[in-house]
Amino acid sequence: MTMSGPAAQAKSLREAFVGRFGESPSHTTRAPGRVNLLGEHIDYNDLPVLPMAIQREAKLVFRPRNDSIVRIHNLSAEFEDVEFEIRPGVAKSEAGHWANYCKAPADELARRFAIWRGFDAVIESTVPVASGLSSSSALVNAVGLTLAYLNEIETEPLPLAEVMAEAERYTGTRGGGMDQAISMAGRANCAAKISFAPLRITHLAIPNDWSFIIADTGVRAEKSGNRQATYNRRRQECEDALRAVGAAVVAAEMTHQPVDSYPALLAGIGVHAALALGEDVLDGHLARRFRHVMTEANRVREAADLLLSADLEGFGALMDASHGSLHSDYHVSSPELDELVGIAREGGAVGARLTGAGFGGCTVSLADRGAVDGVLEAMTSQYFEPRGLAADLDNHLFVAIPSAGAEINEL
Ligand code: GLA
Repeated sequence: MTMSGPAAQAKSLREAFVGRFGESPSHTTRAPGRVNLLGEHIDYNDLPVLPMAIQREAKLVFRPRNDSIVRIHNLSAEFEDVEFEIRPGVAKSEAGHWANYCKAPADELARRFAIWRGFDAVIESTVPVASGLSSSSALVNAVGLTLAYLNEIETEPLPLAEVMAEAERYTGTRGGGMDQAISMAGRANCAAKISFAPLRITHLAIPNDWSFIIADTGVRAEKSGNRQATYNRRRQECEDALRAVGAAVVAAEMTHQPVDSYPALLAGIGVHAALALGEDVLDGHLARRFRHVMTEANRVREAADLLLSADLEGFGALMDASHGSLHSDYHVSSPELDELVGIAREGGAVGARLTGAGFGGCTVSLADRGAVDGVLEAMTSQYFEPRGLAADLDNHLFVAIPSAGAEINEL
């Protein structure tokens, strides 16, 4: 009998562990990547988002140690071994090095709790790197959950996800909390509406005949390089826009509550008044950034209802509008993302958009199950083949399976 898929992966991880450390691993941890369906670049403004966890995941097998050392061997030869000691203030590796995503949870957890127990592990991730599918948070969550479990501290998904969101800022990106939350707390067959401050999650079943197709442009969107600066700048622009609009709200006595967050702004004056005020008081790019945040928040609100009523066309139209806004107002698309979105629509998708931070990486397209082959064929023949890029189901192009969040199991 030959094994394939997860069973084969577990076996090769175990064999690699024995080869590397000379004994058997005792546990396994997995944490999935995610695809964001709607609500892009608004989690860091504390506005709700709508992602789902996918079948691509970071998986490790490990064995506890009796000291504070963590040693992680990556099954992929591309990534060198990592070794460090758990303590607050773990020294960083060079920017962009994968070790930083292993060190981040150790550093954060050690700052908050008296943790000391390390582990030996072999890890493999099937989440494509720097493609907008949250390979980084899958890694952070897998290592973070392992440490939390071994040191008998918080392992409830949402509280731990909040700590992991803070942890990932160790790598230099001022990210929001979406990726860590969905990777920790996702549910099979469901998308999730996630709201922040406080962090909450509502699971929403995905209708059986809806298919989300993920296509990778092949253009890496490294969050640690140039894109990190652009990402952080977008966040700053949102803060600047809120400050200006908030001051105008107070000056006009439109609400008596403080407008110190985007949720407070929306609760105080509503999305339409906020949009109108933004046009009045903001100039140029700040007006555009603000418009994206407001319209995207509105789309998430509508999308949750459309999902519940299984309105495929309506949901697809919101994805198209989201892409338009990310392209024209938020300026985070790229020619390749725009091209794949166009091909998906012509090939029979009801809606398509970039997913994740943008600047390269992946698109997500929604199609009725019966239309999936047409979309895959259009993308293969018009985008992947002309570029000589493989488009089999392991590379660049696959149908997302809404998956369960992170877990740890004894072997
Ligand atoms: C990255 C960040 C998330 C989110 C998205 C954009 O994935 O990690 O917090 O901001 O970009 O929606």
